[in-house]
Amino acid sequence: MSIVHSYSGFSSFTISAFIQRAVQRTDQSVPIISVGAGTAEIERDLPPNVRQRIVLVDPVSEPSSEIPGPVYSTVSNYLKKNGKPESCVLLLIWPSPEDSTYDIEAVEQLDPDDIIVYYENPPGWNSGAAGGRLFHQFLGNPQARGYELLANEWHQYRTERSWGTKYLKLEWLVKTALLDENSRKHYQHGFYGFDNNTEPDCVVM
Ligand SMILES: C[S@@+](CC[C@H](N)C(=O)[O-])C[C@H]1O[C@@H](n2cnc3c(N)ncnc32)[C@H](O)[C@@H]1O
Repeated sequence: MSIVHSYSGFSSFTISAFIQRAVQRTDQSVPIISVGAGTAEIERDLPPNVRQRIVLVDPVSEPSSEIPGPVYSTVSNYLKKNGKPESCVLLLIWPSPEDSTYDIEAVEQLDPDDIIVYYENPPGWNSGAAGGRLFHQFLGNPQARGYELLANEWHQYRTERSWGTKYLKLEWLVKTALLDENSRKHYQHGFYGFDNNTEPDCVVM
């Protein structure tokens, strides 16, 4: 039996499943660079074939048995040591909000083919609990920078503890130039869930 913890409304199981579906399209040799990884809870839960491609970037991240490293404090440090990867998948899980800019800067510096992001953007807000303002602008109009939303899942839920209706989003964006009608048909989906409960934990047997 394993316990799947809830992660601000989505379970870590859902996020992990979404990441796995997204990265299966990409070549095994392409690095998955998680910027602002923190303690890398989600990343460490991924299956070994995905985990071995993960590069952690965060001033507080540390190597672990699941993701042995090396770990980079910033994207600039990663680039200094490795040069710019030909292509990469950028993972942004719950990036810092408001005036934080490391999320949009990671897009600019790494020029990823794929971006997988987990964030929050309640309607009417120009910045939510996760994702900097400039990054939210990008996500609101990814076409302007040559990206397309290929798949997404989102939850809307109310809690008595927090500010009413929240919108939690998992999104997978891909460079438009890399997509054809087949991959759009194969991967494109949107899932909308509504949950009245307060941050449920779910148990998988
Ligand atoms: C809100 S936390 C999210 C951590 C983790 N992804 C999670 O979901 O628990 C934001 C993280 O961004 C990191 N961070 C702040 N500035 C950064 C930068 N310039 N480059 C990379 N990471 C940064 C912080 O150290 C922190 O761990």
